[in-house]
Amino acid sequence: MKKTEVKKLTLEEKISLLTGADNWQTESADGKVRQVFLSDGPSGLRMHDLKNNYATIKATALPTCHVLSYTWDTDLAFEYGATIADECIIHGADVLLGPGVNIKRTPLCGRNFEYLSEDPYLAGVFGAAYVEGVQSKGVGACVKHYCANNSEADRCHQSSEVDERTLHEIYLKPFEMTMKAKPWTVMCSYNPINGIYASENRKLLNDVLRGEFGFDGLIMSDWGAVHNPVRAVQATLDLCMPHRDDSAGLISEAVKSGKIGEAEIDERAQKVIDLAEKAERAAVKRKVTTTAEERHETAVKIAKEGIVLLKNEGNVLPLGGNAENGGQNKYFVLGELSEKPFISGGGSGEVQTAFVQKALHEHIAEKTGAETKYRNFCGWEPNWRDIYGDAYEADVTILPVGHDRSVESEAHDRSSLRLTPEQEDMILRVAGYAKKTVVIVYAGSAVDMSRWIGAVDGVVFSGYAGEGVNEALSDLLCGKANFGGKLTETFPLSLEDTYKGGRTSDGMTDLYDDGIFVGYRYYDKEKKEVLFPFGFGLSYAKFEYGDLRIEKTGESDYDIVYNVTNVSEAAGKEISQVYVKDVLATARRPEKELKGFSKDLIAPHETKTVRVHLDISAFAYYNVSLGKWYAENGVFEIFVGGSSRNLPLKGKLYLELPEDTQYSVR
Ligand code: BGC
Repeated sequence: MKKTEVKKLTLEEKISLLTGADNWQTESADGKVRQVFLSDGPSGLRMHDLKNNYATIKATALPTCHVLSYTWDTDLAFEYGATIADECIIHGADVLLGPGVNIKRTPLCGRNFEYLSEDPYLAGVFGAAYVEGVQSKGVGACVKHYCANNSEADRCHQSSEVDERTLHEIYLKPFEMTMKAKPWTVMCSYNPINGIYASENRKLLNDVLRGEFGFDGLIMSDWGAVHNPVRAVQATLDLCMPHRDDSAGLISEAVKSGKIGEAEIDERAQKVIDLAEKAERAAVKRKVTTTAEERHETAVKIAKEGIVLLKNEGNVLPLGGNAENGGQNKYFVLGELSEKPFISGGGSGEVQTAFVQKALHEHIAEKTGAETKYRNFCGWEPNWRDIYGDAYEADVTILPVGHDRSVESEAHDRSSLRLTPEQEDMILRVAGYAKKTVVIVYAGSAVDMSRWIGAVDGVVFSGYAGEGVNEALSDLLCGKANFGGKLTETFPLSLEDTYKGGRTSDGMTDLYDDGIFVGYRYYDKEKKEVLFPFGFGLSYAKFEYGDLRIEKTGESDYDIVYNVTNVSEAAGKEISQVYVKDVLATARRPEKELKGFSKDLIAPHETKTVRVHLDISAFAYYNVSLGKWYAENGVFEIFVGGSSRNLPLKGKLYLELPEDTQYSVR
């Protein structure tokens, strides 16, 4: 069907295209338009086999998106997208419902494991790379959930009340950046934004997304997010998902009564036809280029790059013994998570894998060659005397802990950042007998470790690292690979330290009065200590920073150049981060904002010169009076280092844009 042929469809057929045929497919307008198959996303393919009683198909469970972002490696985000797309091709899905680029405003959000970061720039960079990866295979991506859907509790009705500047600078920014990758589709969120449901929000769908961001693809609703199909069409929502029986009738009535013009119907139907044509054109070229084994290897590789080492006192790791931790030869692993680690949170993002993991303790025994004792710890009537005895005898005791989908999932938020009291007690008790203790945490977002972190020697944040976690984790623990992941969200000391301090909203309104001060921007403003800052992660290697130079390469373009030296005997990857501060700003601005980064493999005692480019977007803020991004001339400080709270290099530059781009400041 060619573009102009929307005119050849009857009004009824056009209207029929505006809601799904069923749960997962678009309509065919009486066989005239190719149906498009949509499938979840975002951490692997979650698809129901329509020919087999809607059974969930088995697919590769990649690390969930928070672990992907801890890699700080956008090539891996591309590979991640392309890997899932291969499974879409195998099973006949045309559009993958991902990535989710919503900002992690609170660590309580039940869906944080599906999202990328608390920082809009980082979420945007990763969102774009993910989309490019998916679409490189001729499968469409769907960027979700547009927008300001930052908690799951009351997500369907509670209005996110966000001021214009905050909306653009924090919550819309990742969407804006991801649009550069030209996603085929965008999914609107469930929640109202400033009192109007996303699905009916013409300003956000039409004026901002299509107008300002230049999006020319199809906008679909989240599943069940349309309240009024007529208002949705008026707001330029193209596709109401899933199928709704009353949609066609209501829209037809509205056309008859003149509330909706036929031209509007044509525009919306055209988007569905365009998507169908895109899918048809792409389908003939689609080619699966990976084997199931290779896709599993990708899951392992990303887990290895994304798992974060948070504490390594006295170099308790790597296991296997080294010069510093002296001749370890006996390990004890306690807890059934060794056999069945948590690899994902719950909800539509949970992938069913067929892969059966070898237990962590078996990997450790093989990789170290040391005696490795394992005990299941079900939490019911444990034999503490035996447990303490094993911990006492071992050189290192490893305690895998955390929570699964019952705690972190779509449709509800966490109520606490803590592990269960039983898990915390267990850590403290066992650490009291163990020579050395390493805790492995499986969770989808920040965990408050304050009660026990002082009692243990090592902490590894595994996150939800997918079906390859035990292979990856054991390589990292045993020094067969080096840790190279860093957090993309702040771990606060406690829930009380977060902006909301555990207070929930009332189900009607969620007031975003933290404004632009989200994540590290908030902790910086409040000068609060945190448990682990944004951008933090340890390595077996040690790095030093030096020799910062700021090179002007254009009117508002700069290269930030610096040296990173590996001052250790271990090869390792360092994620260096570049932050910008607007010193003399007319508008209130954060203490600093991430504007660039680089991840580099550096050999022992090697120095690498790193170059990070900054363009005008590194200096601009969203000016509400102008209704656009605005860079104000003046002095900007540049900070470079290994985390948002460890920035040894500091420099400055003077932005001097032509006078006619500026407004009076005095
Ligand atoms: C989720 C979406 C998902 C859709 C289809 C909704 O509940 O919010 O992210 O893509 O269901 O499963």
